[in-house]
Amino acid sequence: MGDDAYDEPLFFQVMQYAARADRDVVGMVSGDPDWEPPQALRDGLREYADADSDQFQYPPSEGLRELRAEIAERRNVDPARVVVTNGAGEANYLTMARAMERGSGSEFLLTDPVYPYYPGKATMLGGEATKVPVLESGDPDVAAMREAASPETAAILVNTPNNPTGAVYDRETVEALHDVAAENDALLLVDEVYDHFDFSGDFESALTLDSDRVLVTSGYSKSMAITGFRVGYAVFPEELVPEAKTRHMLVNVATNRPGQVAVLRALRETSPDYYEGTRDMLRERIGSFTDALDAAGAAYTSPRGAFYVLARFEDFPGTLSNVETLIDEAGVAGMPGEAFGDAYADWIRFALVTPRADEAASRLADYFA
Ligand SMILES: Cc1ncc(COP(=O)(O)O)c(C=O)c1O
Repeated sequence: MGDDAYDEPLFFQVMQYAARADRDVVGMVSGDPDWEPPQALRDGLREYADADSDQFQYPPSEGLRELRAEIAERRNVDPARVVVTNGAGEANYLTMARAMERGSGSEFLLTDPVYPYYPGKATMLGGEATKVPVLESGDPDVAAMREAASPETAAILVNTPNNPTGAVYDRETVEALHDVAAENDALLLVDEVYDHFDFSGDFESALTLDSDRVLVTSGYSKSMAITGFRVGYAVFPEELVPEAKTRHMLVNVATNRPGQVAVLRALRETSPDYYEGTRDMLRERIGSFTDALDAAGAAYTSPRGAFYVLARFEDFPGTLSNVETLIDEAGVAGMPGEAFGDAYADWIRFALVTPRADEAASRLADYFA
């Protein structure tokens, strides 16, 4: 499966290396939130434990009816277009599989840097991944995407707000990507799992394009700080729903019921203050982390969305071996930039999902001083 098969082991390799280290290490490798879920989520789970046992049986394969209705209302789409999945991860798999099944190409146009699961899934599905370097701002290079697109292109797959660059694509960019997809009879797949982490105010869901070429995925792993729950969803154009549902059913039977019940309750009862509070906390974290990177003389990205910072230290490229050196000698674990492609191979990604981000930053500042 080529290089892409290596991306996932690399991630685990770094985590394991950090866990084995002979010293205290601040872990900033993976995107597991360290903050509290909404209170209503805990309430929903507690109540569920005492529910009648019929509530412990198979839910509808495509997701609980009330949850799909709640999602549909929030996304302003027909509930029939919503499939509840095992996280945005499965949602991405389903949308990519649908793109392949259309018989209009087998290539996925991705950005470089890219969330490594996309090329992994593309290869697993028998497709090819083509990565197109982003602009310096982290936004997709639409002209280069157009150049790379062809009748072989099954889909353009992007993620906004973006992991790892922190870019938030404006509406014109998403529209332009949609045009490129349309010119090549391809789909536009947009992973919006960080939709609640927009610090710029520029985020607009691709669903507002109201196009039968647009498939959107998202979930609650990040917005409710529940990566272990595995509840997400995909919104398909109506004609692409049936096969997606069938694949979801054959692979999973259904998405876990307690998670869906708890998420539904949290959606209904959580006020916008919860999400605003999380964003405020992250804004502060990002500010002090990047201040310390200044002190370390590093170049870095200032995320407009999501919660990752890419940093580049002089003469210290983002290789696995340098990341291991940082773990041993500075006590900070990040993710090698080379895991995301070539464009940011000199960089290291830090996930700001630890209350010790400040501590990590001062360790980096000391190490590189
Ligand atoms: C861009 C992107 N998409 C999808 C996922 C996976 O989300 P989920 O936990 O909902 O499967 C992640 C997790 O880090 C991500 O960064």
